[in-house]
Amino acid sequence: PLIHVLNGPNLNLLGQRQPEVYGRETLADVEALCRAVAAPHAIRFLQSNWEGQIVDWIHEARHEAAGIVINPAALTHTSVAVLDALNAFEGPVIEVHLSQVHKREAFRHHSYVSMRADGVIAGLGPEGYAAAIRRIAALIGEEPE
Ligand code: DQA
Repeated sequence: PLIHVLNGPNLNLLGQRQPEVYGRETLADVEALCRAVAAPHAIRFLQSNWEGQIVDWIHEARHEAAGIVINPAALTHTSVAVLDALNAFEGPVIEVHLSQVHKREAFRHHSYVSMRADGVIAGLGPEGYAAAIRRIAALIGEEPE
């Protein structure tokens, strides 16, 4: 089954944006890691700076994905729309943050998405995506190799 990996605003700048916080690896590097870990499962790896696009992709996941890995980025802390969309999705959802959000500003400590997520990973960098994909694969009952 297909696994969706969704990335929110500004993550297209990964590797260039605040590397002391988010590291030097690019989103393309994260995608390559996800594809390697997910095999033989296919993944759909997507990024948008637009909240409505993320909502639309979650709706598409209702018909085509068995599980969702999502780094909602700043939408984590603001978006009831993303939470509501995830609540309309029936499969497992794992929330990932590259940085350890709880060590950072207070406004990053609350996550709307955590009210829906089956697991939350923060502070492991790109490895958090790999762990999230392994967990989704376990939850959908087909362990990747
Ligand atoms: C982030 C943490 C968010 O607080 C922030 O707005 C991001 C990225 C992370 O991966 O650490 O853009 O989700």
